[in-house]
Parts: sequence; C-alpha cells; structure tokens
Amino acid sequence: MIYAANFKTNHTRRSTEQYLSVLNERLSEKAPDDQVYIFPPATALGEYAGLFTQGVQNAYPAEKGAYTGEIGLEQLEEFGIRTILIGHSERRIFLHESQEEIARKFAFFRAKGFEIIYCIGEPLEVREAGEEAVRSYLLAEFEGIDLSYEKLIVAYEPIWAIGTGRSAHPEEIAATHAMLRKAVDVPLLYGGSVNPANIAQIVETDNVDGVLVGSASLDPEVFASMILHRA
Ligand code: 13P
Repeated sequence: MIYAANFKTNHTRRSTEQYLSVLNERLSEKAPDDQVYIFPPATALGEYAGLFTQGVQNAYPAEKGAYTGEIGLEQLEEFGIRTILIGHSERRIFLHESQEEIARKFAFFRAKGFEIIYCIGEPLEVREAGEEAVRSYLLAEFEGIDLSYEKLIVAYEPIWAIGTGRSAHPEEIAATHAMLRKAVDVPLLYGGSVNPANIAQIVETDNVDGVLVGSASLDPEVFASMILHRA
C-alpha cells in the first residue's frame, strides 16, 4: 500500500525536520511492503534519510533558467529528488495550469526518469451529472499523458472531497477506480479527506493501491497511525 502526505503550503523547514524525526521512529513498525511518500513545501526540501521517499509538490519543466519564482531540475537534484506530483487540482484551479502545460511538465519529468504521481479529479457539478460525465472528465485529464510510463502512479482526488471533510463513499471510489483501471494499468491512489476514521475502509476498497493525504497528514502521529492501522 502507498501512503503519501501532501503538506501543500504547510510546515516550515524546522517543523518538517521535527515531523520527519517523529514519523521515522514510527515507521520502523510499518509493514515492509508499505511505501511512504512525503511532499513538503519547496522551502523545506532537504537531505532527509528514512523509511520514506521525499517528493516535490511541483517544479518547472526546465533544468534551470529565467523562470522567476520557479524551481527546476537543478534545484531538485540538490536534494536527490526523483518524485513529483503533477496535475493537482489546486494547481489546475488556483494557478490556472492548463492540460497542455501539465502535459508538457509530465513529458519533461518523464524524460528525466522521475516517478510521477499524476493527479486527476472532477468538480462537484460533474459528479452530480453522473458516472458517464465523471468518466469523460477524468479521461480528458489524461490528454497528452503517457499512460504507459512505467514510473507512473495515478491519484484520483475528487475536488469536492479535498479539504472538505467529505470523503467519497467507498462505492464511489470503487466504481471510479474500476473505470480508471480499464484506462491505465498503474497503482491508483485515492485522495480527498482521507483520515484515521475512514482509512481502513478506503484501503480495503477494490482497485485502491494507496492514498494521498492532505490535512490528516500534517501531524506525524496522525499520519503514522493511518499507515500503521493494519500493522
Ligand atoms: P485533504 O486530505 O486535506 O482533503 O487533501 C487531499 C489532497 O488534496 C492531497 O493531495
């Protein structure tokens, strides 16, 4: 099972260091085949060692250059980072990243051999329009994306479930993941209000290979309890 923590714009370098030392201690109890990923904010990336993989929440598709405010491959290499989140709905919505830009970013980091957690998810009005609407919305978010890439992980995060405390129902997750499984043969994560109360049911859902956690990942003890719930 994959457990990924997306800190978003939370934590500092100092609090990330403290977080990771608490988490690491707890991870000694994790099942050997459980994989843990941490996505701190860019200012808190570091040379951390432990039973987790550090990834970056975003980066610019360039080695380096004149891209004010962005970080590129050179900055990631400083910390040995080989994993990136691409396509998160918060970047699509707040940063207005288009599917074309996302596909360009994907192609760049694919060419560099990064492991890519590619995020997709529909807004509430699409969910309310029914499963066929959800299907075509999600498949459109695969436009320009090489789904045969061997280091691809897909994260399904319905926008209406992110940060709302209202996770998708296990039946909705099962139906959507079964549909996605037909389109793509890679690990599938679910994200959106995953917490200690619903983790057990979510990871037992068919075609769920892991979770991408926001708010409930911010406290290392809480996130550890979610990882260790089966241990
Ligand atoms: P929440 O767990 O806070 O709903 O966030 C999910 C998410 O967007 C992870 O990328």
